[in-house]
Amino acid sequence: MERFVVAGGARLAGEVRVTGAKNSVLKLMAASLLAEGTSRLTAVPEILDVAIMSELLRRLGCTVVRDGDAVDITVPERPGHEADYDLVRRMRASIAVLGPLVARCGEAKVALPGGDAIGSRGLDMHIAGLTRLGATVQSEHGYLLARAPRLTGASVWLDFPSVGATENLLMASVLAKGRTTIDNAAREPDIVDLCGFLRAMGAQIGGVGTSTLEVEGVEALWPAEHRTLPDRIVAGTWAMAATMTRGDVFVRGGRAEHLEVALGKLEQAGAVVTASPDGFGVRMDGRPRAVDVVTLPYPGFPTDLQPMMMALNAVADGTAMITENVFEARWMFVNELTRLGADVRTDGHHAVVRGRERLSGAPVRAHDIRAGAALVLAGLAAEGTTEVHDIAHIDRGYEGFLASLLDLGADVRREDVPEDGFEQRRR
Ligand code: UD1
Repeated sequence: MERFVVAGGARLAGEVRVTGAKNSVLKLMAASLLAEGTSRLTAVPEILDVAIMSELLRRLGCTVVRDGDAVDITVPERPGHEADYDLVRRMRASIAVLGPLVARCGEAKVALPGGDAIGSRGLDMHIAGLTRLGATVQSEHGYLLARAPRLTGASVWLDFPSVGATENLLMASVLAKGRTTIDNAAREPDIVDLCGFLRAMGAQIGGVGTSTLEVEGVEALWPAEHRTLPDRIVAGTWAMAATMTRGDVFVRGGRAEHLEVALGKLEQAGAVVTASPDGFGVRMDGRPRAVDVVTLPYPGFPTDLQPMMMALNAVADGTAMITENVFEARWMFVNELTRLGADVRTDGHHAVVRGRERLSGAPVRAHDIRAGAALVLAGLAAEGTTEVHDIAHIDRGYEGFLASLLDLGADVRREDVPEDGFEQRRR
């Protein structure tokens, strides 16, 4: 067990580099299962979730080798088709192998996931979509079993533009017989990235970047090389850190066009955002103003940046209303933030945040990746010392988080904690 010890008060300034997107690369790795041979992914972040997905692919018979920021994945002629509980429970995104495995092997057995503690996160749209494509899907003994000798193209309509369901159905339909239409599909940049890789593998996909994806199934795909798109959530995290600490940060590799709504909110809060071809800069001179936020599927405000926005509002001038429309239980983070003195009231999907001049440091616990990062940001804006426990969550999604913070001038250290250290500190 490790924790971050954050001294409040530093103004973050300098440059930070953004690596490839976690939410994209995990699906690219799963998609490589669709073709026999060696695919190469570049700009692959060194994060815990990539290590978990690598292990999952190895257990399916693949070879996974890292070479600098590249990862080579060699897929055998007949990969295995079972994803075990011990890995899937550590990372919900493991469910992304379901579609490719049914398409490639005719069957898949994937443990029902655990993952982030941020809501019920059903799989009903994944299951209904695969069923429409001709698979029989059953849930047995904690596993999802999907079978289809050959999937058949169909028209699928999603109740909600689910990122994971869109990805699974895309990866299943590229090898199906005939045409598939996915309506109300998610439009996240990660989906566009996945389509780019699948097309390089020989898939025929139309409507990329829109909410109607059209796939013409092909007999086989070939391995390909693909560069992972930059992580917009990591980029957004640094943008919020700069705003909260009244800092001046250049986010190298960040794509402002993928963060239009979030950066617009920071401008409303008073930040100056400057976009360039190499990234974007965020400068903040005074105390941020409170800004209302409503999370929505892309291109709306991303739910993954909602905890950071709540932390920002906790130190802003004024009162903000935050509406969470994507994950209903993302409020677990609120209990931790209020330990730092934040004034937050929740009611259903809404949270009212009354800004305080300063938060006050305390021991807190990260329940998921984004809540962990947001607590560190809150600690930077708090008086005194904040200990953020359970930081393995942060390691799942942020490469070199500590090094970047130190480069930007934060006073932070990482240290081991005895097993019961958190409970003792919290008393
Ligand atoms: C992905 C991201 C996550 C991000 C989310 C929304 C990865 C690894 N994770 O998660 O960081 O917060 O998109 O941008 O890429 N739902 C159902 N039934 C389904 C599928 C989803 O009810 O079959 C619900 C979920 O419970 C949730 C909402 O739909 O409330 C959104 O889920 P989804 O878009 O699928 O998110 P993930 O792909 O799990």
